[in-house]
Amino acid sequence: MPRKIIIDTDPGQDDAVAILLALASPEEIEVLGITAVAGNVPLDLTEKNARIICELAGRTDTKVYAGCDVPLQRKLVTAEHVHGKTGLNGPKLPDPKMELQEKHGVDYIIDTLRDHDHGTVTLCPLGPLTNIASAFKRAPDIIEKVQEIVLMGGAYFEVGNITPAAEFNIYVDPEAAAIVFRSGAPITVMPLDVTHKALVTPARNDAFRALGTKVGVAVAEMTDFFERFDKEKYGSDGAPLHDPCVTAYLIRPELFTGRKINVEIETISDLTLGMTVADWWGVTDRHKNAMFMGDIDAQGYFDLLTERLARL
Ligand code: RIB
Ligand code: CA
Repeated sequence: MPRKIIIDTDPGQDDAVAILLALASPEEIEVLGITAVAGNVPLDLTEKNARIICELAGRTDTKVYAGCDVPLQRKLVTAEHVHGKTGLNGPKLPDPKMELQEKHGVDYIIDTLRDHDHGTVTLCPLGPLTNIASAFKRAPDIIEKVQEIVLMGGAYFEVGNITPAAEFNIYVDPEAAAIVFRSGAPITVMPLDVTHKALVTPARNDAFRALGTKVGVAVAEMTDFFERFDKEKYGSDGAPLHDPCVTAYLIRPELFTGRKINVEIETISDLTLGMTVADWWGVTDRHKNAMFMGDIDAQGYFDLLTERLARL
């Protein structure tokens, strides 16, 4: 039985690959809908990019919704310096023809969870947690409907990528992250500790390009663009492919290892705002609210990605 999921996303080249992987894996994943959130680029671009990606996958039947355009309490911080002006710089992809759904993304999340039985819908946030937190705040009754939240965000040993202390998705809306991490829903976290071990080396990107398909070439061109930032900053042999760790986990969870620990979010101090304070060593008796991943079989991950992207 495929797992029913809602992807909440701020595309973003790595979000794009996560969405493509999900749409290429119908045996394991049923994408109920995609909700866009402001993050890497403003909402008018993230919702448009989500539709562009669905068309690239040949899945114009996918329902795409626009959610929140600003964080719960703070000004929006974007990341054009990483993802480019459009958020999908790299490949030349046509403007979308498929319609954006009328309903607001937060209403879609609430209505969909209310329409499903207890613990049957998985939420896959790939960007700031504004939409998810807004839905939980407005309709706390939906939290028990969530089977699992599998999100990309946070960091512990890797510390921050947007500030010395914080990872981008959490930093953009720390109040939203605090609501989600305290919600009581089962949470599995793909932090930078894992994603920074999933580097798109030249050989791995060549494998995408060698697929020779529209999708394979587009993914290689996305990576060619957004890897320049990380390679320069970290001197690494490629960019971390963050968000597809979320959808890969739904297909092959054994690729990942981690610990069930307490994770709290810094929402007060300017110095450490958005930090995921992860009790990896169990030095407190705080409630263990999250499965925090720490390692990945990186080659297995890229083999899965290449094999599945070939299907589109
Ligand atoms: O810090 C990495 C995360 O921020 C990824 O989800 C990337 O797409 C950006 O949203
Ligand atoms: Ca993202």
